[in-house]
Amino acid sequence: MVRVWDPMVRAFHWALALSFAVAWLSARGWEDLHDWAGYAAGSLVAARVAWGFLGAPYARFTQFVRSPQTVLAYLKTIATGSEARFVGHNPAGGAMIVALLVAMAATATTGWMLTTDALWGATWAQKLHSVVAHSLLLLVLGHLAGVALASLRHRENLVRAMILGDKRAPEPGDVA
Ligand code: HEM
Ligand code: HEM
Repeated sequence: MVRVWDPMVRAFHWALALSFAVAWLSARGWEDLHDWAGYAAGSLVAARVAWGFLGAPYARFTQFVRSPQTVLAYLKTIATGSEARFVGHNPAGGAMIVALLVAMAATATTGWMLTTDALWGATWAQKLHSVVAHSLLLLVLGHLAGVALASLRHRENLVRAMILGDKRAPEPGDVA
């Protein structure tokens, strides 16, 4: 086994998933809880972005953010069932992470906008927050599908790896 996800990445991940779940479930009727969960999510994203420049090697954006061409080429290999196993995030996972972070930041920001004097009660701003939040939910569902698919294809429990930090050492053909 090799150490892949450092403690900061793992703590961030599960705290973000929890904040999102609480914000989602409290959206109608529990305003204070909703706002604080949303602010927590926004702060976690800010911390993760900093860690993406400063953190352990597998946490860095340079390690897992790939060009659109590379992501498309990787998606084609998934379609033919020949995709390589990555010890870090695979190219599609990397693109999904960027999308999740951007959508989470946009949801928290549009939520905060609703609390300002200028936009309090503005219907368009409420609609915008709702649309962004629902797009984020779709991304989260896509993320879970991607994790399930990669776990099955490479016969490894990626959820366990995101809890404990370790993954199977690279084998021939894997991308370390
Ligand atoms: C509910 C909201 C969730 C959000 C916003 C979210 C977001 C993310 C992000 C940003 C990463 C990248 C981690 C990093 O490098 O910092 C990630 C990775 C990961 N997430 Fe989630 N996640 C969520 C829920 C879940 C759940 C419920 C599970 C498991 C059942 C899960 C399993 C994983 C796994 C296994 C990885 C690592 C993927 C890989 O091996 O490349 N996530 N997630
Ligand atoms: C990033 C996490 C967040 C998620 C996932 C989220 C999600 C949602 C959802 C699903 C709704 C219901 C929209 C609808 O009626 O269709 C909502 C409403 C609302 N959210 Fe958020 N939100 C987040 C962050 C925030 C933040 C940080 C604030 C403010 C500090 C906030 C303030 C509000 C308010 C005031 C409403 C009610 C708007 C209305 O009256 O229609 N949200 N949010």
